[in-house]
Amino acid sequence: MTRTPLVAGNWKMNGVPDSASELRAMIDALKGGGHCDVLVCPPFPLIGAFVGDAADSGVEIGAQDCHFNEKGAHTGDVSPALLAAIGASAVILGHSERRADHGEADALVKAKAQAALAAGLLPIICVGETEAQRDSGQAEATVLAQLDGSLPDDAGIVVAYEPVWAIGTGRVPENADIAAMHAAIRKAVVGRYGEAGQGIRLLYGGSVKPGNAAEIFAIDDVDGGLIGGASLKADDFLGIIRAA
Ligand code: PGA
Repeated sequence: MTRTPLVAGNWKMNGVPDSASELRAMIDALKGGGHCDVLVCPPFPLIGAFVGDAADSGVEIGAQDCHFNEKGAHTGDVSPALLAAIGASAVILGHSERRADHGEADALVKAKAQAALAAGLLPIICVGETEAQRDSGQAEATVLAQLDGSLPDDAGIVVAYEPVWAIGTGRVPENADIAAMHAAIRKAVVGRYGEAGQGIRLLYGGSVKPGNAAEIFAIDDVDGGLIGGASLKADDFLGIIRAA
């Protein structure tokens, strides 16, 4: 089964309205098309303007979180229905920073993923072990348990494997460790969804840069990347997109 690679930028809590110039530089450089899907996920207040800037460019715009309800008394939250209505096409869910900063557990991530799917958004579900879990030989068991609790009923998702210790640190697992984890995740999603699991894109995330992207994307069952710091500057992000 062929899977179109996806390179997704997670801007986290970075960017101001003027940062749209980086987005426009990316879009200009990508004119004429490419061989992978490209997604940029800025903070909520920038999504609407970015959707406008990216119209008809092939670059998709997404969010970094959503609520699991369609509307209601949830001060400060944003519904998947609203994200879809303003033109977002995807949402990152269960990122380790949200799991850590906001205590998000697997069941909540699953509820958000179900709601995102119902609103027509593509959920990008993040999993990954801490350094202590890897050191104690629990990396795979941790990730499989996260998947077990976080995956929605429908296979229309992307999974991002992001070792917590590799995020923003400049450290990356050995290729063999990425390969082993992605093989385990593939087996899990095929076990869960049957043949449809073969079509699910599995992204690697954590300190992906232009200099290491090609090597990482060449690993079996790595179908692109979730990029933090290196997605903020057009030159770096474009270097990673070209590697895909
Ligand atoms: P990083 O972040 O690329 O800055 O390591 C990745 C992520 O958290 O999605």
